[in-house]
Amino acid sequence: MDIAMVGLGVMGRNLVLNMADHGFAVAGYDRDASKVEALRKEGQGKKVEGVGDADDLVAKLTKPRAVMMLVPAGAPVDSVIRDMLPRLQPGDLIVDGGNSHFTDTNLRTKALAEKKIEFIGVGISGGERGARFGPSMMPGGSKQAYERVRPILEACAAKVNGDPCVTYLGSGSAGHYVKMVHNGIEYGLMQLISETYALMKQGLSLNDDELHDVYAEWNAGELSSFLIEITADIFKQVDDKTGKRLVDVILDQAKQKGTGMWTSQDAMALQVPTPTIDIAVSMRDMSSVKAERTAASRVLSGPSHTLKRDRKAFLGQLRNAFYASMIITYAQGMAQLRKASQTYNYGLNPEAVARIWRGGCIIRAALLEDIRAAYQAQPELPNLLVDKKLGEQVMKRQADLRAVVCAAAETGIPAPGFSVSLGYFDGYHSEWLPANLIQAQRDCFGAHTYERVDEKGTFHTEWKSSE
Ligand code: 6PG
Repeated sequence: MDIAMVGLGVMGRNLVLNMADHGFAVAGYDRDASKVEALRKEGQGKKVEGVGDADDLVAKLTKPRAVMMLVPAGAPVDSVIRDMLPRLQPGDLIVDGGNSHFTDTNLRTKALAEKKIEFIGVGISGGERGARFGPSMMPGGSKQAYERVRPILEACAAKVNGDPCVTYLGSGSAGHYVKMVHNGIEYGLMQLISETYALMKQGLSLNDDELHDVYAEWNAGELSSFLIEITADIFKQVDDKTGKRLVDVILDQAKQKGTGMWTSQDAMALQVPTPTIDIAVSMRDMSSVKAERTAASRVLSGPSHTLKRDRKAFLGQLRNAFYASMIITYAQGMAQLRKASQTYNYGLNPEAVARIWRGGCIIRAALLEDIRAAYQAQPELPNLLVDKKLGEQVMKRQADLRAVVCAAAETGIPAPGFSVSLGYFDGYHSEWLPANLIQAQRDCFGAHTYERVDEKGTFHTEWKSSE
């Protein structure tokens, strides 16, 4: 067999079938016998073998061996490595296709290198359908190890104009880092979409059919993207149990597996502002304290949620506000990747990142072609907002973004994603920020020193107290 897959959950099983469709012989293994059985059934007539024993699995592989795993991040990954290690030989390769934290990937790469086992971390996006018919894959680690699985990954990946949505991204944990930031952007976009939903549902009293129509229309234009497309579909889905629209019987508490939080945490560590991603994580946390929110809603109140605006005009503003904020969200994620690449020596090529996100992944969007082109023209672009075309797109829509933020503030409909996206834009293009006052305060209360506009060096003043 060409490759083994350890972990036959939804993603693992579908990726095995995808590989087999492209002519590769794949052995799938899982400790859960029912999952092995499921693969045997689905893999009938294909070059797929479901294997229930780790020794058998390894014995079936051509040497040097390639073992890919798709298991939940954290302890399960280490457990698979522990399981495989005594069965492998120097020169064999382990591929972690899960959402591992990049620092874990660094540790594993180092520990396995000591045992002469190659290890690469590959972020895979696209959910169940992506895994089956073409995900976007984000590999990092040793280039030469990647070359060994490149034909398999390129064959299975989504294609955009024939170009596979996979490419070697960089050394060490580059692949898992890029996937983490992908998920941070995913969180930001999902928060912004949910805010457009609230503004239309509560502010304009649109019903689910009307919401479907708006998102479907948006998806036919510049906002065309996977997340807008599924959002349109979601409003049509009927609940089998009640006959109502399913979205209306789903509890308003968003869960998370942590990748958005990791993105924000590392952005903070790198000192890169990513407020749209940060607020998206915070609003999921806010959603999860439902009992507290319910109690607070009895004692605290804001203005009436009804928006007194012309419906058609406001929908146009909302669409523009979303497009501008979408650009601002990608700009934050790409800025984080730039800093991470410098700090962790990944050697990332931002154009390549944008290129492999154009298809297969959750954040795929028509906009990514403009982002790719921006980096092709200027690989050292410090921020997408200073790309001429993208910057103009935001500037053209800024009045509408401001109108949406005002509308949200006036009606008390929470839209912090739009608000901080606008704040990021305004902050980024401000030559002056009031940080001189913060420096003065720091020096005043803590003798932390300050720099001056008219002279180089660090200074401290004995500030006069009014006491
Ligand atoms: C993808 C997704 C996927 C992620 C889920 C759930 O790219 O296919 O990002 O990897 O695990 O979307 O993420 P949360 O549970 O954190 O929302």
